[in-house]
Amino acid sequence: MKQIGDSNNYNLLAPVYDLLGSMMYFGALGRAQRHFLADIPKGSRILFIGGGTGFLLNPLFQRCEPKDVWYVEKSGAMIRKSKKAVRHEYRKRIYFLEGTQEDIPDEEKFDVVLSFFFFDQFRFMTLGKIFLKLNTHLKSGGLWLWADFIPPQTWWQKFLMHFMLCFFSLTTRLGTDRVYDVPAIFRQRGLKQEKEAGYYGGFIRTVLLRKS
Ligand SMILES: C[S@@+](CC[C@H](N)C(=O)[O-])C[C@H]1O[C@@H](n2cnc3c(N)ncnc32)[C@H](O)[C@@H]1O
Repeated sequence: MKQIGDSNNYNLLAPVYDLLGSMMYFGALGRAQRHFLADIPKGSRILFIGGGTGFLLNPLFQRCEPKDVWYVEKSGAMIRKSKKAVRHEYRKRIYFLEGTQEDIPDEEKFDVVLSFFFFDQFRFMTLGKIFLKLNTHLKSGGLWLWADFIPPQTWWQKFLMHFMLCFFSLTTRLGTDRVYDVPAIFRQRGLKQEKEAGYYGGFIRTVLLRKS
């Protein structure tokens, strides 16, 4: 189901997405996503939203031994890549859902939500609505792992952000022209921030939050 302000389409970019990301950020995008995986309790039910090409799925299974993973991804091309990327032995414990947060049945509840470089695609109102919907699927005491770019502060961060927003609006019909302090929005809505770390000179941040 489509949301207002959620018009992005990553099908065109899917074949080269990981290559572009590692060329620009020298692996920092992946390192930020792996940073807190060891904090996920074994046997968790995990909701992974907007996971892209699926490059994180094998490390996720190796390190966290989840009960199951719901992989919710809007782009059909990204889903196809993810299905190819994941090792055969993990396939039975992944449910691939081509769609958005709106397609997750209300009764599905998870111990962990993963959102990496996901919320930077949306305008403020859309972002807030998406957070609220995903939060209904997180159990009390559950973990939320978030990683993303922060609002730019230095000249080089402003330059890179401007470049990325132009690039993604041309290639994916990105729905926003700025990024927000998303962990602050999470905290205002009842999540408690437990840990954080920075990458790429602090321009990329990764945060572990808990639902109280
Ligand atoms: C910037 S990419 C990040 C991909 C991956 N998390 C990574 O860091 O490599 C954003 C991804 O979110 C997906 N996406 C966008 N809106 C979505 C939505 N509402 N629900 C699920 N996936 C969505 C896109 O198709 C895309 O694969």
